[in-house]
Amino acid sequence: MNQPLKLSVGITPTGQTPYSAWIQTDVLHTLQNPVSNHPGEHAWITSVQVSELYWMLIIKEIRTAQTQLRNDDITRACNTLERVVAHHEPLNATWKSIAWMTPADLLSILSHAVSKYGQDTALQGWTYRQMVYLLGIKQPEHLQHFASQPARWKQLDDTLAEPSLYDDVLAFLHRAGLPIPRTNEHDHRAPYTPRPEVENAWREIYADPDKYHDLRRLGETLADIAEGFSTWKHLHLMATRRTFGHRAAYFGTEGISWLLPTLQELPFPELWTVRSTVGEPPAICPHLSRQQGR
Ligand code: HEM
Repeated sequence: MNQPLKLSVGITPTGQTPYSAWIQTDVLHTLQNPVSNHPGEHAWITSVQVSELYWMLIIKEIRTAQTQLRNDDITRACNTLERVVAHHEPLNATWKSIAWMTPADLLSILSHAVSKYGQDTALQGWTYRQMVYLLGIKQPEHLQHFASQPARWKQLDDTLAEPSLYDDVLAFLHRAGLPIPRTNEHDHRAPYTPRPEVENAWREIYADPDKYHDLRRLGETLADIAEGFSTWKHLHLMATRRTFGHRAAYFGTEGISWLLPTLQELPFPELWTVRSTVGEPPAICPHLSRQQGR
């Protein structure tokens, strides 16, 4: 016979249920405060707030994975990073919730936000920037947006100076015996410069998946994360095209021209460049042999 589950039962705070106390529903549902009468503004605020929650979740997961890598616990690090891959699905799906917006909808909401709070830009969002720094895309120039939030400025400045997830991955590969130099000694604030030794290390891993089963799993999980991140950027660009067109944005420069080059920001660069040389090329191009009647 199955044993009954024995749980010690806690005390529900007065005026709450166990569910409301745990999930903080009463607080959560006071946090959406529209500035306009537009019927879609609640969807906009909810969508952005959900994204904020997922960015913070991803930050926490990355930090956990970094600790696990520093402890040489690759199995747990991969489990954690696989959760980051999973979190990108609902994060990227948030765009669906505001896909109904036309320029008229967006501008009518934004104009009320500007008159209430001043001109905003999502560059003032510190969770996204911290996640990006942890992914290894170090751009100190973005700190300028946090001058009026000294605590957040310091938090981002500290994150800039720390090893990124990719730094910890490469340090782990070094300890695992791959021929890459120690990596955690460079200036972490500087933008990452791809190195041939690192690409060679990934090539060695992909060339022998039986020997490097765990490291290959790590590499593919990182590639999935980079793909989720890039997908978000692409969906953001398309939403901007759809709701904003070629208008001037926060900096007075055209928004789409500002965003387009950022699509090139791909985390873990050597994991992508190595793909050109991993695997044996076919002896003869199959199309060519068909054309030549072979
Ligand atoms: C759909 C309407 C949107 C438009 C037209 C738009 C437009 C822009 C533009 C023009 C920029 C470049 C910086 C600037 O000039 O402000 C930008 C950056 C950014 N936006 Fe949006 N945005 C939209 C929705 C969103 C939403 C819903 C989010 C968050 C959930 C978001 C998050 C960001 C982030 C994080 C950046 C910085 C990107 C980077 O550094 O690569 N945006 N956006």
